[in-house]
Amino acid sequence: MSKIVVIGSCSVDFTTYAPRLPNPGETLIGTKFTTSYGGKGANQCVAAAKLGGNSFMICRLGLDQWGEKYKKNFDQLGVDTTYVALTPDVTTGIAQISVADNGENQIVIVPGANSYLSKDDVKNAEQLITNADILIGQLETPLETTLEAFKLNKGIKLLNAAPARRGIEEILPYCTILCVNEPEAALLTNTEVSLKNAVAVLKKLLETGCESVIITLGPDGAVYMSKHDQEPIHIICDKVTPVDTTGAGDAFVGAFATYLVTHKDKPMHQIIGAACHVASLSVTKEGTQTSYPSKFDAFKRVYKYEKL
Ligand code: RIB
Ligand code: NA
Repeated sequence: MSKIVVIGSCSVDFTTYAPRLPNPGETLIGTKFTTSYGGKGANQCVAAAKLGGNSFMICRLGLDQWGEKYKKNFDQLGVDTTYVALTPDVTTGIAQISVADNGENQIVIVPGANSYLSKDDVKNAEQLITNADILIGQLETPLETTLEAFKLNKGIKLLNAAPARRGIEEILPYCTILCVNEPEAALLTNTEVSLKNAVAVLKKLLETGCESVIITLGPDGAVYMSKHDQEPIHIICDKVTPVDTTGAGDAFVGAFATYLVTHKDKPMHQIIGAACHVASLSVTKEGTQTSYPSKFDAFKRVYKYEKL
């Protein structure tokens, strides 16, 4: 079975729900508080596992009150934890999240153990990384570590360049697929991004050296362009009423990776459409991993798309 390997972050998410997001200096009365398992890398790995993907996680947790519990969470969800390491004297990564009634969020992360994911961890998992059918990275763990892993892998390398940051040029030529949302694409290209100028932005991102690019556009679906078949496409997504958009991008990445390696016969617009479908389902429920669908057949449908 195709191996889906995620190298990246795990965080415990402390989430408060309130009617709206607070302004600077303002105190709001919230309606609910939850503690749940998150972090972009872990979310993507769990999204894949829940869809039946053969998923492996390479990460660092703290040897604290959360580390062991988090590892158990992975085990229960069917993620391989051979390369989930517990790090002494540091805390597990945490994310403080505020969610508004309209589904919007605000996040502050403290990486903790995530910052300790190193080239030694890559060396340790060398076999797995080299032979992964798809290797997924994000930007919540050290870039040099992800770069080292991408250099080793002989399969598909998928970089989700989130959260948005500059200075990642070095890794882009190693990416088979770069997946970003609008603000991330804007930061990497110094351009405002919308569906109207999507082709120009896709071309600009392809110039960075990656082989193909996906820009997710929230309710507007996603756009895709590859160096191999220059024709850019726009995949249209169902409109849903958002409850919590946290981790929707991760649901997309995990689902996309899974479908790409398990439904190789399907055209790209179907694979991206199916991943958009999974992401939009996640938005209708609170939380991240807990809101991802299990054993869900997204290919019963034909997804709409247009040439750009
Ligand atoms: O993408 C969503 C994730 O980002 C959350 O789970 C939180 O941990 C932050 O890292
Ligand atoms: Na959700």
